[in-house]
Amino acid sequence: MSETVHVDLGDRSYDIVIGPGVLAQSGAAIAPFLRRPHVAIVTDENVGPLHLRSLQAGLQAAGVTSTCLTLPAGEATKSWPHFERTVEWLLEQKVERNDVVIAFGGGVIGDLVGFAAAVLRRGVRFVQIPTSLLAQVDSSVGGKTGINAPQGKNLIGAFHQPSLVLADTDVLGTLTERDYLAGYGEVVKYGLLGDSAFFQWLEVNAPKAAAGDMAARIAAVKRSVQMKADIVQRDETEQGDRALLNLGHTFCHALEKATDYSDRLLHGEGVAIGCALAFELSARLGLCSQEDPSRVRAHLRDMKMKVDLSDIPGDLPDADALVSLMAQDKKVIDGQLRFILARGIGEAFVTADVPPEAVRGVLRDALS
Ligand code: GLY
Repeated sequence: MSETVHVDLGDRSYDIVIGPGVLAQSGAAIAPFLRRPHVAIVTDENVGPLHLRSLQAGLQAAGVTSTCLTLPAGEATKSWPHFERTVEWLLEQKVERNDVVIAFGGGVIGDLVGFAAAVLRRGVRFVQIPTSLLAQVDSSVGGKTGINAPQGKNLIGAFHQPSLVLADTDVLGTLTERDYLAGYGEVVKYGLLGDSAFFQWLEVNAPKAAAGDMAARIAAVKRSVQMKADIVQRDETEQGDRALLNLGHTFCHALEKATDYSDRLLHGEGVAIGCALAFELSARLGLCSQEDPSRVRAHLRDMKMKVDLSDIPGDLPDADALVSLMAQDKKVIDGQLRFILARGIGEAFVTADVPPEAVRGVLRDALS
């Protein structure tokens, strides 16, 4: 029942295998990449107790042994101290140039372990086994790896493509509803940025997927990953089109900073709110019809997601302060803020030509 999406990047090409029970097949899937039947796994304290045994049994079924490092769960792990610990642990495990490292967890583990693999012995191969919906549809695909700096998120890193991605959709069953829906913020983003038929499909099927319908989950993950693969194939290092994947993210990053990257707002929740605001801004600039932001908001409401700024608990800064936070975004080039706007659902484009007054206006109204 598993599906495969291929990412075609020449000698950095790889497959993404999606479906239930993929963990049980992990040994057979990874064995072709191994010179010796042994891997080093890095996971976190949430994922390890729930799923490590299944992964190790899947590896063992193909005669692959493993050692494992378990890091604390949470964004704070994406930092120099845990990066140093991971690299040193991999060296202690005598991981060699031809070995394979496994990143087993959500976006934090994928980004950190991918970066460790990128620099260890000037680059070893790694396999992503993403366990959150967000990691399955976004961060495990495309080779962005890295850690956070005190100056900002994801400021230290490297492009390093995985050799294989194994997305086991059964594992999504252990996510909290909030984490699942936060990941869904990235799924809906794909429909909004480039595929109106997918958005329409999500309007009908996403509630079923959220309720646990496996066929709907696989289809949603597969289409998302296919869209990401298409974009990454066109623009691996984000010189152009890859920026489309940042739909909703300029607003999201300002809101994440305003809430101190705390539990008040998860990244995917910020993306969903950011997408609604990006469509509102597009409508105000006369780029799309007013019905489009209304349709986006109606779908997010249907999914019982955060839609409005008032859905974020606690106080937020005013519109001017939020615009200043946006100006610190790492996507600013030559002082120009880049936005992803839309001419309609599924028709996003990148522009630096957005009057700050229009952004302030959208935020002022959203805060009132
Ligand atoms: N998450 C955005 C990207 O991979 O480009």
